[in-house]
Amino acid sequence: MIGKLNHVAIAVADLDRATAVYRDTLGATVTDATDLPEHGVTTVFVELPNTKIELLHPYGENSPIQRFLDKNNDGGIHHVCYEVDDIHIASARLVADGARILGDGKPKIGAHGKPVLFLHPKDFCGTLVELEQV
Ligand code: CO
Repeated sequence: MIGKLNHVAIAVADLDRATAVYRDTLGATVTDATDLPEHGVTTVFVELPNTKIELLHPYGENSPIQRFLDKNNDGGIHHVCYEVDDIHIASARLVADGARILGDGKPKIGAHGKPVLFLHPKDFCGTLVELEQV
């Protein structure tokens, strides 16, 4: 059901510093920072030949990323995102299997303007999983 690894998201406490690490130290191509108020995050994408790294920084009050950083002061891997052809079919199959979808269970428009949903880490090997319809 899942296809390509779309991105790995890393929560960072200092977005400028993290961007510089990927751009200058690791020599990768990085995008400009984009604020996504509805998700409570600011993102920078690191574009790699075979996938992307999403640098996530808290935006506004009550950002879910702030709670993550409170527990992981140095930042860390926050989620992995796999591509699916049809998010509604994927979602129905997972729910039928007993998996839990976060939030109201309905896909939302994610950082790339495409429908996404998040799956409960306890159902997926302790890892927050994002599915993105491509
Ligand atoms: Co993501």
